[in-house]
Amino acid sequence: MLLALCAATIVFSQEFRLAGLDPSQISQEWGTPQIDRSVGGNALTIGGKVFEHGLGTHAKSSFKIDLGKRGDRFRAEVGVDDEVAGSIASIEFMLVGDGKSIFQSGIMHAGDAARAVNVSIAGMKTIELIVSDGGDGNGWDHADWADGTITMKSGTPKSVVLPKEKAVILTPKPARMPRITGPRIFGARPGHPILFTFTATGDKPIAFSASDLPAGVSLDSKTGMLSGSAARGRYPFEIMAKNRRGSASRNFTLVIGDEIALTPPLGWNSWNCFAGDVDDEKVRAAAKAMVDSGLADHGWSYINIDDCWSIAAPGQGRDADGNILCNKKFPDMRALTDYIHGLGLKAGIYTSPGPLTCAGFTAAYGHEDADAKQFAAWGFDYLKYDWCSYGNIAKDDSLPEYQKPYAVMRKSLDKVDRDIVYSLCQYGMGEVWKWGEKIGGDCWRTTGDITDTWASMSGIGFSQDGHDIYAKPGNWNDPDMLVLGYVGWGPQLHPTRLTPNEQYTHVSLWCLLAAPLLIGADMTKLDPFTLSLLTNDEVIDVNQDPMGRQGRRVAQKDGCEVWAKPLEDGSFAVGLFNLNETPKTVTVSWDDLVIPLDAKVRDLWRQKDLGTFNREFSSKVPRHGVRLIKVTPS
Ligand code: GAL
Repeated sequence: MLLALCAATIVFSQEFRLAGLDPSQISQEWGTPQIDRSVGGNALTIGGKVFEHGLGTHAKSSFKIDLGKRGDRFRAEVGVDDEVAGSIASIEFMLVGDGKSIFQSGIMHAGDAARAVNVSIAGMKTIELIVSDGGDGNGWDHADWADGTITMKSGTPKSVVLPKEKAVILTPKPARMPRITGPRIFGARPGHPILFTFTATGDKPIAFSASDLPAGVSLDSKTGMLSGSAARGRYPFEIMAKNRRGSASRNFTLVIGDEIALTPPLGWNSWNCFAGDVDDEKVRAAAKAMVDSGLADHGWSYINIDDCWSIAAPGQGRDADGNILCNKKFPDMRALTDYIHGLGLKAGIYTSPGPLTCAGFTAAYGHEDADAKQFAAWGFDYLKYDWCSYGNIAKDDSLPEYQKPYAVMRKSLDKVDRDIVYSLCQYGMGEVWKWGEKIGGDCWRTTGDITDTWASMSGIGFSQDGHDIYAKPGNWNDPDMLVLGYVGWGPQLHPTRLTPNEQYTHVSLWCLLAAPLLIGADMTKLDPFTLSLLTNDEVIDVNQDPMGRQGRRVAQKDGCEVWAKPLEDGSFAVGLFNLNETPKTVTVSWDDLVIPLDAKVRDLWRQKDLGTFNREFSSKVPRHGVRLIKVTPS
């Protein structure tokens, strides 16, 4: 009897490998979590020691594990993976049990020997494995939890599954009568070809007409395409759209001067979906889908090819005259841009100031004039100019060295008779927002690469405060592309890992930030929810507001933030954001906006007036969600 009792109380502890848990619930700022591999896909190696098992992740990351209070010990060896040896990586590993810190590695660098974690997790409901970026940004922060194990007294550890949400469509269906969409202002340089298409929703066919076009400019009434060229000046006119159901009109201004990109570019870029898997066929399919899906009717216009269109083999990337060559996947660039332009859209391309692009393809170094000329001859309207291998050319990390290659390409672009939006991509180095305009950039990336997780998107989006003073028509801060729809950096794609509320936050915040909006999804796989996020004209109008002010944070409390963007008509677009794990009530006070006591409030996603409010407006906001409103002082 006694023996039986003893046997009943014997504890059979069992060890579980960390790598055996479901890693899809890890939220990390770059790449995809890897089982028994580094985030770069190599054998886990820390300070020269190779580990067979473990998790490869990337700062910043968080992994929550449910122990049901039955855990015993957590063991691992942690460190920066050797695949980033020689880089500036710095990381801190932390373990939090039921909200309290139970382990901190201290800052670790590339090449450091692994540090051992061996801590009690007894009695804890959950533990969270956190990798911070060491306070200096997440560049190269490849973090390994090698030989990670969880010993349980009983039961099994489980990844905490993030709450599932219903994807609720808020955007109303467009009316059948015409509604003119897209930018209300457009800039072109004197004498350069004007490439702009007026767009409208409503039953097709829609006929466009204009009250008063400048000399040399004409409008195709069937397609809405504006063409020709004009002399320097500011040309306001009225644009009309008419169909069987009725007509609409609105004021438009064509500005012929030195600035282009007078509103943030709206379009698509191949990187976040196809990366190295991009080809001519996929770009054509994206352009066609832009039109067929109806997105083009809402003002989306750029179709941008990112990296991997030139030749990777060393020494074979140019012809005998030094002209850059396309690889086999792009047999005829001019035919491709003709196709894109024929659809009323614009075309974009990518290269780097170094000898190679980030993915190792031939780039512009030493051939800037020739390449700018070639891009213009091919008919491109947008150039993304990445940094990467220029890091080996730059003498040091000084500001002049950061600026030099961008000034060189600016000069080359100035020599061509075509308007090419110039997008600097150097991840914000040297506080590019302070000098992007001086160097002649139309927009500039302010951060490293985005990925489709809450940690990445919210980390980037909510850290943009303070850059607003540098944004204006023709100069935009770029917090990187949208991670909605089917993404995946090719060839394997997956639906975005952002929850529906996180997706509302993503679009609302990027619109408030007056950010270039470049869809990073496979355009042939747009589901109705994703489309609804991209076709709300009142939300897009916030992004495209002609005054071109960037929103900023006006209040912050208990994990909630209020961001406001002043609009041309004297109103404000306001986002009430909840960054917490549970729903919260978020309030914007009219004092935060510095406006008088009464103001009208409109729900922008639902396109509905909510009434007049005194002193403030409050709303319950879901986990990681937003309420986007327009506040108009009475
Ligand atoms: C990165 C850039 C990405 C993408 C990639 C291509 O540096 O930030 O957006 O362009 O290069 O290799």
